[in-house]
Amino acid sequence: MIITNTYILDTLNNLLSVESLPLVKEKVNELVSSLESAEASDIDEDCSPLNDNIFFPETSYIKNELKQISETQTLERTKYYIQRLVKGLSEIRTGKINDLNLNRWKEYDDLITDSLWVMNKRDKSGAHNGNYWGNFIPQIPNQLLRRFTKQNDWVLDPFLGSGTTLIECKRLGRNGIGVELLPEVSGLAEENINREKNLTDSSVITKIINGDSTKLNYKEAINELGIKSVQFLIMHPPYWDIIKFSEDENDLCNAKSIEDFLELLGSVIDKTYSILDKNRFFALVIGDKYSKGEWIPLGFYSMQKALEKGYKLKSVIVKNFDETKGKRNQKELWRYRALVGGFYVFKHEYIFLFKKE
Ligand SMILES: C[S@@+](CC[C@H](N)C(=O)[O-])C[C@H]1O[C@@H](n2cnc3c(N)ncnc32)[C@H](O)[C@@H]1O
Repeated sequence: MIITNTYILDTLNNLLSVESLPLVKEKVNELVSSLESAEASDIDEDCSPLNDNIFFPETSYIKNELKQISETQTLERTKYYIQRLVKGLSEIRTGKINDLNLNRWKEYDDLITDSLWVMNKRDKSGAHNGNYWGNFIPQIPNQLLRRFTKQNDWVLDPFLGSGTTLIECKRLGRNGIGVELLPEVSGLAEENINREKNLTDSSVITKIINGDSTKLNYKEAINELGIKSVQFLIMHPPYWDIIKFSEDENDLCNAKSIEDFLELLGSVIDKTYSILDKNRFFALVIGDKYSKGEWIPLGFYSMQKALEKGYKLKSVIVKNFDETKGKRNQKELWRYRALVGGFYVFKHEYIFLFKKE
């Protein structure tokens, strides 16, 4: 038997006029059985869509909803759930800043909504690879882009590194601009991004600017692309001098003092603020550092810079942190040092999420 969207929706709509709870449940159970017995290939994904926006049937979603319907105790509640499923299958309700279908919000169970992110495995699919020392795991931009951007939106990453953000942008159908100081790293990012596929039907523009993000004229740069603003900002700057990316004096890792580092980062926050649309988001990914026996709360100092600019803080996310390659080889040594020195070994970094209002 071929099961189409139309068949499921017709059956559900007919049930809305049935006034007997046992009969409704019987019909719902029949529908569950036919879904279960139908081979996955029998579910017709394209046939008879009710409108262009319709989702193709995903049996696990429908089956779960139908099970909930068949376990409900009152006719009124049963019909409420049937109506909800009809909506979920036939209407798309999205918000202003992403493409999530809120009528089917339960399906996005891989989207994190808690402030503690524990991610143990780096996504190495497609063009992603962990080869660039100091890159972030792709799940960070993936989570953020899906929640805070729509397809065809423009995303700016002023510390592009090996291109992780723009790889995700391309995959998700978002346009991306990345700024990277070091020519060889910009080249690496370009290679990586070129290897990625755009998995959507939106055409995507990816622009890599080899330059200093503290000095760039952002308005001019985006005007050249024919746009006046961007819809999402993501920054993953050096965590001051923790990793020496280069000897270049404009590299944030070479800032002479914490004050200098914060001034440079502050200037990027300042310059990019004006090109971000109102009611849109900015994510800052950064960790703390240890120096001369003291924990330096680099993350919170940097957060303060964004607050001073006028951003509204929406979340402080704590993400677990895999040891850097250097520290991994010295795990025991760091543990010993921690025990002797009265401190804890870093295992987390922050994602500060701000909104421009
Ligand atoms: C933490 S890494 C970003 C890694 C990136 N998220 C990724 O996944 O590959 C920081 C990057 O900022 C770059 N950088 C440092 N100072 C910069 C500046 N003034 N302008 C532009 N890029 C800069 C470094 O070369 C480095 O590649």
